[in-house]
Amino acid sequence: MNKHLLSAADLSAADITRVLDTAAHLATVTDRAIKKLPTLRGRTVCNLFFEDSTRTRISFELAAKRLSADVINFSAKGSSVSKGESLKDTAITLEAMGVDAIVIRHGASGAPWRLAEWVDAVVVNAGDGTHEHPTQALLDLYTMRQRFPSFDGLRVAIVGDVLHSRVARSNIQALALMGARVTVVGPPPLIPRGIEALGCEVSYSIDTIRDADVVYVLRMQRERMLEGANYVPSLREYTARWGVTPERLRPGQKVMHPGPMNRGVEIDAAVADAADALIERQVRSGLVVRMAVLYDLLTHGPVEVKVAEIEEVA
Ligand code: CP
Repeated sequence: MNKHLLSAADLSAADITRVLDTAAHLATVTDRAIKKLPTLRGRTVCNLFFEDSTRTRISFELAAKRLSADVINFSAKGSSVSKGESLKDTAITLEAMGVDAIVIRHGASGAPWRLAEWVDAVVVNAGDGTHEHPTQALLDLYTMRQRFPSFDGLRVAIVGDVLHSRVARSNIQALALMGARVTVVGPPPLIPRGIEALGCEVSYSIDTIRDADVVYVLRMQRERMLEGANYVPSLREYTARWGVTPERLRPGQKVMHPGPMNRGVEIDAAVADAADALIERQVRSGLVVRMAVLYDLLTHGPVEVKVAEIEEVA
């Protein structure tokens, strides 16, 4: 892996496989009574969150703690950012504190790249605007790999508000790299022009989702929709035409959603709670995959050595 994890495009197929394999080894440790590893003892990880988060922030915090790192949780609310301090000055302040890794979530697309220019610390993109969310893609691939023998030819339909989805962009790139066949599905105003260049096909018919092995439902991101822009006539109509309901699925299809869900909008509650939904499993995957990412970026050793180290401690 590169020094930082900013984009799914930073990852080779070998990188993805190594992170997923490392996560699988770490999962065996997290099932034990003593869940902590000493690997990052003496290292400091800062979670720098300028946007709200539940899953990503908590799982990065727990991941760093499980690896024995010191953790600083910074949220813009309650910090000097509310007095007008810039991202650059915030970054320089953190650097002066001697942090080793900064996990950043920011509303501006590209913010993690700027941060990486200003600090020596490793930077991990935990979601930037509508752009990328690479660790979400890794945890999604980890979840799929638990259910399917191979990514090669796996059919994944990503359905809904693709336009505002950093999750979709990172997933398309990572899945395409691993050999999956990705189709994005939604109404034309919510499908960005040129998205095929990332490695997917486009469908404007909800019926397409029946062909998929995995139906990946995206949240309607109302908070990112420009006022006055009529992406859909109404939420009620969106749900009627594009909502993922039991009737629109084939038996046995796996359903995923990055969360938080708008139940009854993009996903029917019966689908979200069904046995074929992997949504809770995605959250579980987040912990071990983020442990693996921090482990990989902060230890830089060959995977064989690192896996042996995990087993020795376990
Ligand atoms: N999937 C995801 O990024 O969730 P949070 O916004 O809760 O972190």
